[in-house]
Amino acid sequence: MDLKQRTYLLVTGASRGIGREFAQQLAKRFRAEGSVVTLLGRNQALLEETKAEIVATVPSLPVHTYSLELEMAKAEDFSKILEATGGGSSSFERAIVIHNAGTVGDTSKRAKEIGDTDYLQSYYHSNVFSAISLNCEFMRVFQAIPKLVVNLSTLAAIAPISSMAHYCTVKAAREMYFRVLATEESADDTLVLNYAPGVIDTQMTVQVQREAHDPAVVAMFREQRESKTMLTPGQTTERFIKVLEAFKFKSGDHVDYRDEKF
Ligand SMILES: NC(=O)c1ccc[n+]([C@@H]2O[C@H](COP(=O)([O-])OP(=O)(O)OC[C@H]3O[C@@H](n4cnc5c(N)ncnc54)[C@H](OP(=O)(O)O)[C@@H]3O)[C@@H](O)[C@H]2O)c1
Repeated sequence: MDLKQRTYLLVTGASRGIGREFAQQLAKRFRAEGSVVTLLGRNQALLEETKAEIVATVPSLPVHTYSLELEMAKAEDFSKILEATGGGSSSFERAIVIHNAGTVGDTSKRAKEIGDTDYLQSYYHSNVFSAISLNCEFMRVFQAIPKLVVNLSTLAAIAPISSMAHYCTVKAAREMYFRVLATEESADDTLVLNYAPGVIDTQMTVQVQREAHDPAVVAMFREQRESKTMLTPGQTTERFIKVLEAFKFKSGDHVDYRDEKF
């Protein structure tokens, strides 16, 4: 896959963690005049930091930032952002969307305790509904050019993990949406990748280590952090870019950081 093409890139959750690193590493590879980067998150100051690092490396690259609360975001919000940032222009050779934003939910609760529908509504809106809605707008706006659609997945999307009833269920639903998309669209038009990044040292894993009700889960995260075997956002981003460059996956595949066949 040629990342040097004239590209439109949109990354959600680009203010920190994996999203920030993905945005920076991908943008640094865009050499063609006319590429555009759009960064979404809530914290505008941190989005500006991500932007500043990109612009320091590629000064000519237009980078747009939008503070958007995904718990309430609607299709119109996404279409406005896509259209305001040049979405739909036939001058791009490829459009990439990285559905990265995500939250781990309340890990202090067991599966039998998560029945609060108000909480579920907000949690599912920010983690599943908003990703589907953004994706539909992205598909519509960029219908005329080849697209790469990346979903930040996880082992928790395909395996049950104690303390993670909220997280496992949204990640499974989200991944299944992207798998259906891959079965319906030709890979030449829409290439879909569900990338599971491994266990990464970000605010998300700090939160799990602090709040999970299962002591075995807390101990597993603590052990990985203390022994420095927990990955960094930089390590998983490098691996992700190698997966893209090697291009051995099929559209819709679940590709894990550790999976050597990719
Ligand atoms: N860390 C891991 O070990 C791990 C493992 C497997 C998969 N993943 C997946 O990788 C992705 C990124 O995780 P991470 O570890 O980098 O998490 P993180 O450091 O907590 O960052 C999460 C990002 O999502 C944004 N975000 C969260 N809630 C939002 C909301 N309601 N509206 C808008 N933006 C929101 C945050 O931005 P603001 O705070 O600015 O809103 C932030 O940029 C997630 O999808 C996660 O499930 C992570």
